[in-house]
Amino acid sequence: MRDSLFIKAAFSEKTERPPVWMMRQAGRFMKEYWEIKNKYSFLEMCKTPEIAADVTMLPVDLLGIDAAILFSDILVTAEAMGGDLSFTQGVGPKFANPVRDKAGIDALETEVTDRLQYVADAIKVIQQRLNGSIPLIGFAGAPFTVMSYLVEGGSSRDFKLTKLLLHNHPELAHRLLSKIAKVTVDYLNLQIAAGVNAVQIFDSWALALSWDDYKEFSHRYITEIIAGLNRKDVPVISFCKGSSVFAPLMAEAKPDVVSIDWNVDLLDIKKRLPAGVAVQGNLDPHILYADKKVIKERIYRLFDRMKDENGFIFNLGHGVMPDIPFDNVKYAVEVIKDYSVTR
Ligand code: CP3
Repeated sequence: MRDSLFIKAAFSEKTERPPVWMMRQAGRFMKEYWEIKNKYSFLEMCKTPEIAADVTMLPVDLLGIDAAILFSDILVTAEAMGGDLSFTQGVGPKFANPVRDKAGIDALETEVTDRLQYVADAIKVIQQRLNGSIPLIGFAGAPFTVMSYLVEGGSSRDFKLTKLLLHNHPELAHRLLSKIAKVTVDYLNLQIAAGVNAVQIFDSWALALSWDDYKEFSHRYITEIIAGLNRKDVPVISFCKGSSVFAPLMAEAKPDVVSIDWNVDLLDIKKRLPAGVAVQGNLDPHILYADKKVIKERIYRLFDRMKDENGFIFNLGHGVMPDIPFDNVKYAVEVIKDYSVTR
């Protein structure tokens, strides 16, 4: 795996073309996903290694991407800590017991890797299926983003309760974030021990934070997590919405790759990062709704811009939306794989 396009690009080594994978590459935009989803709940899918492996393999087999990502969710850590988690179609994740005070925070458990063993089992099944063809990416949520779901009790537009906790009771917020960070280090090390080839930390909602709050309540814990990983030959990718602003700070946490949203020119931001830090991104996922001509033009524009750079992994600035036409996603992957040949 060390010689795969994806791992080499993640370590900023020269590759014949940039590797491609997409966040949310296994999901509702595929009819094959629905064939499985109609039979099981989302959490059942995550917790049954054979099913998680089946779903992980869909984009490998149907799209031909250069890296697989474990089929799971960032909220499984919070569930293992004691969160009463459910996913409802059209509603998203819900915690029936939101964590909003000291008692709630103290009740959360931190020695929980046994409860996440199903993820290690899934990784082993997936690696058997992949059989050395492409790398497998494991992942976890960043403490701030996971905390926001625990505090709000689900998805939120404005993160009002989460921010109130940060601002009025920073000591409680730190107590909660420290607990999540501890669990996250153990969880990612469990995934590494089980055989993932890279890990990505998702801080999807960092964008909601001011610079100072990002530094104090997010960056600090991501730094702690990355420092705690048994990462030899396992590159670490740091993702957040808001990376166009936070990328220089994200790089200080010492990831190998920073995943960039679509608000910024990818080459400009790469030049502002220390040498040896790769970038991943950053096509606006909405481009995949557009005509194929536009998809091709925009991918070429990005690739032309990045053509002299090592350390570039193609991805979207955020995940594939559920109603993006499958055919367009497949077309984008083909365009990318042909790029170096046709130029
Ligand atoms: O990328 C992949 O294909 C791997 C699987 C994956 C899922 N969730 C599967 C999923 C990954 C990497 C995630 C991460 C995740 N989960 C994030 C961070 C990435 C991001 O999108 O910002 C977040 C914030 C979550 C929390 C979450 N899970 C939400 C808000 C929702 C509901 C909204 C939505 O987009 O569906 C989920 C459910 C979820 N996670 C689904 C999938 C395939 C949909 C489940 C269904 O079929 O209904």
